[in-house]
Amino acid sequence: MSAPMPVESIATAQSVLHPAGPDASIIADFAWVLFGGGALIFIGVMALLVLAVRRRPEPVNARRWIVGAGFAFPVVVLSILLVWSTWRSAELTPQTSKGAITVGVTAKMWWWEVRYHDPASGRQIASANEIRIPVGRPVYIGLTSSDVIHSLWIPALNGKMDTVPGRVTGLTLRADKPGVYRGQCAEYCGEQHARMALHVVAMPQDEFDRWLAKEAQPAASTAGAPNEQLLERGRAAFLQQRCQACHTVRGIGDTGGVEALAENALLGPDLTHIGSRLHIAAGTLRNHRGTLAGWVADPQAIKPGARMPAAADLDGETLHALAAYLEHLK
Ligand code: CUA
Repeated sequence: MSAPMPVESIATAQSVLHPAGPDASIIADFAWVLFGGGALIFIGVMALLVLAVRRRPEPVNARRWIVGAGFAFPVVVLSILLVWSTWRSAELTPQTSKGAITVGVTAKMWWWEVRYHDPASGRQIASANEIRIPVGRPVYIGLTSSDVIHSLWIPALNGKMDTVPGRVTGLTLRADKPGVYRGQCAEYCGEQHARMALHVVAMPQDEFDRWLAKEAQPAASTAGAPNEQLLERGRAAFLQQRCQACHTVRGIGDTGGVEALAENALLGPDLTHIGSRLHIAAGTLRNHRGTLAGWVADPQAIKPGARMPAAADLDGETLHALAAYLEHLK
């Protein structure tokens, strides 16, 4: 057994005010300067207003006030802001895949398909709703959508980027320290827009390399597991329920016949390593046997409108076995 991942114990952050990467820090600086400056100017204007109301009418040099406060002041302030923000923006990580690790993300109603490049085999590895990245390195997220416009936003790491059907957009993420950073679809995309979240898990480079190598492996075998019988029952239920019509589990079948379906099995998230993800249903629920069983039993009760139908004909024992099997797919 490998050591438990430390990142799982770190509190999840979803806040622009707690930046965890260089780009998010620059954006936070902009926000604070604009907020602070705006607040000072607002206080100044209010103070002038109080003075104007309280004082007895005296002749003032109206022309001087109009030119000074109404023209010169905003021109000076806005010019300083323009120069400063242009200078700071130059420090933002370039939005390019050059020299960066590339991860493909396709937004769907209402979840995120995530694809990694496996350096060992050159193949794509599919996952969902969780983007794992190494700490301290730029990761270029190549974005598209397969249905409507969504928007990827991980506030602690960078600004937003729309995902547009038929187009590829990009966003570079860089995390300074290990952690779990929650993100959210930031463009209204239908009924379950609010439950279209995802998590970015930033981990040390060597840990990330090990994780990616494991992710490239086919699904865990049930052979030799202490609860092998239960897991086998769950695996049989998975096949019987035709789950693989929409979900890929690489290596689940005894023969190649089942895997042939995998070509078309892109409707739902790839489940080859579902057990290792922190959440299910696009950030909606923590991932464990209980939530997995609840989700399979009645996804519509949790996320009405989601594509996944209920497994209404499963009895409790079989459901438990199926959930145990999915949990086993680390
Ligand atoms: Cu996808 Cu909102």
